[in-house]
Amino acid sequence: MKPDGAIACAVAILACQFALACPAIAQDVAEGQRLFGRCAACHAVGDRARHRTGPQLNGVVGRVVGSAEGFRYSKAFVRLKDEGQVWTEAMLDEYLARPAEAIRGTRMTFAGLSKAQDRANVIAYLKSLQPTQIVRGAE
Ligand code: HEC
Repeated sequence: MKPDGAIACAVAILACQFALACPAIAQDVAEGQRLFGRCAACHAVGDRARHRTGPQLNGVVGRVVGSAEGFRYSKAFVRLKDEGQVWTEAMLDEYLARPAEAIRGTRMTFAGLSKAQDRANVIAYLKSLQPTQIVRGAE
């Protein structure tokens, strides 16, 4: 079953009246996987994922920013890595909404996902991916 965003939200809000743990927005992994089609031109995931225009994203939630081995990141990302910044869901939400504004100088030329529900679903999908180590990265 794949309820659309609005219905998923309404269901989440209703469920929240009875549950203690209540995410702000329900997350739908399958829908996130579908939406990832917009990212796949630049980002590989899964077994033997190689870097493309963007780094592979296996295990990116909880990963240090700019730390996929063998990928050449922007200076902005290198700075965040040096600070030891880790991708939290909140940071991803902000970055994916408007990459160029969230991290000035990023090389990710993607306009962003304007809908909070879409971002929540994509982040849910990213969370479902296990970390893997890259053997060789195409630049
Ligand atoms: C046009 C190519 C392109 C598209 C489309 C794109 N990205 Fe990116 N992405 C990049 C590049 C390039 C970087 C590296 C950014 C830098 O070095 O500043 C990046 C970085 C990232 C990072 C940080 C990775 C790390 O190792 O720190 C995440 C997370 C990410 N992208 C997610 C997404 C998601 C999710 C989508 C789809 C909604 C997407 N990107 C669409 C090119 C793209």
